[in-house]
Amino acid sequence: MTGGAGFIGSAFVRLVLEEQPDVSIVDYDALTYAGNLENLAGVDGTRHTFIKGDICDREAMLAAVPDGCDAIFNFAAESHVDRSIHSADEFLRTNVIGTQVLLDAARAKGVRRFVQISTDEVMGTLPDDSDDYFTEASPLQPNSPYAASKAAAEFVVRAAQETHGVDAVITRCGNNYGPRQFPEKLIPLMIANAMNDEPLPVYGDGRNVRDWIYVDDHCRAIWSAYENGRSGEAYNIGSRNEQENINVVKAILDALGKPHDLIKYVTDRLGHDRRYAIDPAKVETELGWKPQTTWENGLAATIKWYQENQSWVNHIRSGEYKEYYKAMYGTALG
Ligand code: NAD
Ligand code: TYD
Repeated sequence: MTGGAGFIGSAFVRLVLEEQPDVSIVDYDALTYAGNLENLAGVDGTRHTFIKGDICDREAMLAAVPDGCDAIFNFAAESHVDRSIHSADEFLRTNVIGTQVLLDAARAKGVRRFVQISTDEVMGTLPDDSDDYFTEASPLQPNSPYAASKAAAEFVVRAAQETHGVDAVITRCGNNYGPRQFPEKLIPLMIANAMNDEPLPVYGDGRNVRDWIYVDDHCRAIWSAYENGRSGEAYNIGSRNEQENINVVKAILDALGKPHDLIKYVTDRLGHDRRYAIDPAKVETELGWKPQTTWENGLAATIKWYQENQSWVNHIRSGEYKEYYKAMYGTALG
């Protein structure tokens, strides 16, 4: 797998090692600002090998794929929309060229299956208050540079399948939340700021809708797609849990016993997608997958994790993050 020191990748490592006793993982990750070896603390080192490397480095990538490797899971990516608006270069390099390099390595090593971790954002945005949902038949209409790079990666995977016969499946999940998410994303940013009594910056009118899923549920769906998904298919993954941003932010403040006047409405994100909502009927019926974590339980567990792991948050907030935050929000963190 690639990207196993990030948020979702590290959750996938833990889950697979726990639930699949015969599986060993080689975890290839560049340790960018979002990669963090602390995310892998306590992981069983006998079945998990970490290699630091760039997915675009052809030679290193090829050398990292072990002989007899059954599957490659591609989690590695630049993943934050706001950063892609500021500068898209690294998104195209890692997310598109990196995926091509990895596909070439998979072919050269005779890997049986390639699993591309994509996102619902490739399908663009849905209107407010409609009965529309993203299905596997929805057109790819990405609106942010991040989403465009992930859509391009899907096409690169498709081309490898059609041209070279690579066995590939694509998963498209909605917004994840859970422990160890980098606090540039909505939920951990709001938890960290609320814990520190800093303002909570809500974009626009706060009524954009995201379809939230607990990270372990996403990881189980990825495993199902690897085991039972049909080659060449995409699978949309979601928990039927649409929430307006402002309600998410208020729920976090309430859980932490903090006042709502910490909320600060700020200038909207450029090209801000209004609503994401996934119809997960295909993963439910074809793969027999169902989410196990309710929104209430998942959010409570997530907040508890951040409360109990403040040193993890403080390490991040003390580094490059301070500069990012100042440039992004125009105010310094305390
Ligand atoms: P993340 O930013 O937390 O982690 C990304 C990881 O990739 C990091 O460990 C980083 O070091 C690594 N990486 C980045 N560039 C690399 C490179 N050039 N070579 C090797 N490693 C590199 O991201 P995440 O939230 O864990 O997302 C993982 C995947 O899931 C991404 O592909 C993302 O597009 C997808 N996804 C995320 C969400 C979400 O809500 N976070 C939803 C759907 C899909
Ligand atoms: P984010 O976590 O960046 O995920 P994505 O843009 O990939 O869906 O943002 C989730 C929603 O929260 C999105 O509508 C933008 C909004 N948002 C804020 O209102 N304030 C913030 O500081 C951030 C980071 C996001």
